[in-house]
Amino acid sequence: MSARQPIVILISGSGSNMAALVEAAQRRRWAERFGAPVAAVISNRPQAAGLAWARERGIATAVVDHTAHADRDAFDTALATAIDAHRPGWVLLAGFMRILTPAFVARYAGRLVNIHPSLLPAFPGLKTHERAIAMGCRVAGATVHRVTAELDHGDILEQAVVPVVPGDTPEALAARVLSQEHVIYPRAVEALLARG
Ligand code: GRF
Repeated sequence: MSARQPIVILISGSGSNMAALVEAAQRRRWAERFGAPVAAVISNRPQAAGLAWARERGIATAVVDHTAHADRDAFDTALATAIDAHRPGWVLLAGFMRILTPAFVARYAGRLVNIHPSLLPAFPGLKTHERAIAMGCRVAGATVHRVTAELDHGDILEQAVVPVVPGDTPEALAARVLSQEHVIYPRAVEALLARG
């Protein structure tokens, strides 16, 4: 077994990517094979549905509410304290809707990974599906990438491509992309864990 590399997952909402990661960790025995249990799920929003899901599965959860902090630096410092309590090898952003400070990114350099619902470097930022449809893209998709201080930037670890179909709506496209996110995120993470 490799050195311990526990995983902390950051969410803001429904947490379906987090759930896919937790289920992959159990099914593929990440704790036993790689010393990589999912140690905690942390949300910046107290009402994030994913928190209850994780708690029901016996995973430690925490809330670091961004509205309770004066600025980005104060929030990121509190977030880092909550994360570091679990001594993680990896910090996985899974629908975590906050822009992180360069100091936060530097603290977890090389250990911070994100999933973004577009084929980066196309469409960083928000409303990716709406923009892809408006541009007339024939394909869309999702990207797992390392996090840098630049938003939705950084080395690409995995991508999935889905078609954009005539008459597509952002909601329909989002659902098509999301089902692929649940495949590529666990796959990309397992590849990282295997390298240690
Ligand atoms: C996903 O599409 C993710 O790529 C994006 O926000 C969505 C979050 O979904 N950043 P979930 O919370 O993982 O269900």
